Amino acid sequence: MLELCRFADIPDGGARGFAVEGPGFAQRIIVARRGGAVYGYVNSCPHVPSRLDFATGEFLDAGGHFLQCQGHGAYFRFEDGVCIEGPCEGKALRPAPIRVERGSVWLERSGVALVDEISKVLSDLG
Ligand code: FES
Repeated sequence: MLELCRFADIPDGGARGFAVEGPGFAQRIIVARRGGAVYGYVNSCPHVPSRLDFATGEFLDAGGHFLQCQGHGAYFRFEDGVCIEGPCEGKALRPAPIRVERGSVWLERSGVALVDEISKVLSDLG
């Protein structure tokens, strides 16, 4: 398992993005929190496969109630990742296997490591 961050590092009602890589594996992950519950999703929009935050680290709609894609404005529920309004309505974000244990948020995958988001963005740009 890979420790993504401390539970307290995810603000209640907020979300954070992470980049994770390992041999043959690279993924961006969103961790959203509401109260004591956390939800993990792959940071890729079901409308067009691009990251929801477009490298800004901002995942919430203006009201702070939903995850929102900056591509075309789709709204996703925290609880199940389902798009409730937008061009991919009815589709869902792909779940990422996370859990909270010993005060931290863990990704249930072995052989991977966190990648610095800024370095990742720069390498993606070539
Ligand atoms: S790319 Fe996400 S709504 Fe279009």
